[in-house]
Amino acid sequence: MPHSTTTIMHLNLAWAITGAGHHLSESYDAFKKLKKDNPQIRITIFASQSAEEVLRMYGLFDELKTIANGEYLEEIFLESEQGRSSPKVGRFLLNKYDALFVMPATSNTVAKIVHGIADSLPTNAVSQAVKGGIPVYIVPVDIEGRILSRMPYTIDREICAQHTCPICMPAEQCPEHAIETQIDLLRCTGCGECVAACPHGAIRGGYAEIKVRDVDMRNTMQLGEMEGITVLRHPGAVLSAVSDLISA
Ligand SMILES: Cc1cc2nc3c(=O)[nH]c(=O)nc-3n(C[C@H](O)[C@H](O)[C@H](O)COP(=O)(O)O)c2cc1C
Repeated sequence: MPHSTTTIMHLNLAWAITGAGHHLSESYDAFKKLKKDNPQIRITIFASQSAEEVLRMYGLFDELKTIANGEYLEEIFLESEQGRSSPKVGRFLLNKYDALFVMPATSNTVAKIVHGIADSLPTNAVSQAVKGGIPVYIVPVDIEGRILSRMPYTIDREICAQHTCPICMPAEQCPEHAIETQIDLLRCTGCGECVAACPHGAIRGGYAEIKVRDVDMRNTMQLGEMEGITVLRHPGAVLSAVSDLISA
């Protein structure tokens, strides 16, 4: 049963985001659809410091406002603005939320949860949610085998070295002034203007194939055995999980 004292019309969900590029846009798409189909559902976002950086790199940071508009129980809490003790997660002990979704969950966050560590906003949220009897759903990025992960924009220095451009157009046109000889990914907002601006095609995003480590596979298996935690294999599964909560 949902724990909130409010009605089903006002299902309150918490979404914790970690710093994984993999499944990040799918997680955003799933919550965007959820909010569009069910505007009455309130969603609070809890983003780790790495999530904040990676969201910017993929051009998704500002988009979060379409899901959480800043009103009560629809805030965006950033680890970089919260204290070390994550006071906002006390809400999980006050029955403010019907469920917590952690997606995507980095191998780092999964390892911490499995070992009972709570030292970031998402891991503190999980710890307090389980202690408060709030169901937790987690989408780990590292489940098994190999994954195809989207990469942020980078400059191919070999292509760059073949040309002596008097003016580097991507550097000129970058609205964040994030390009010198490299792209400063902590300033990059993933707008992609640089890709079109380079006449030599030296700037690319693209995908990388990543092997899932044994330790991460073991941690993910252990995660699924923990009390109060359900592992979802894909961000899209949030939609059926919320339907189940609504009909519970
Ligand atoms: C662009 C980018 C993409 C990343 N993608 C992943 C990923 O898909 N999975 C992962 O486990 N870590 C990924 N990382 C590394 C995490 O951000 C890093 O381990 C961080 O410490 C995780 O912190 P958190 O778990 O508190 O969010 C990525 C880092 C960057 C810069």
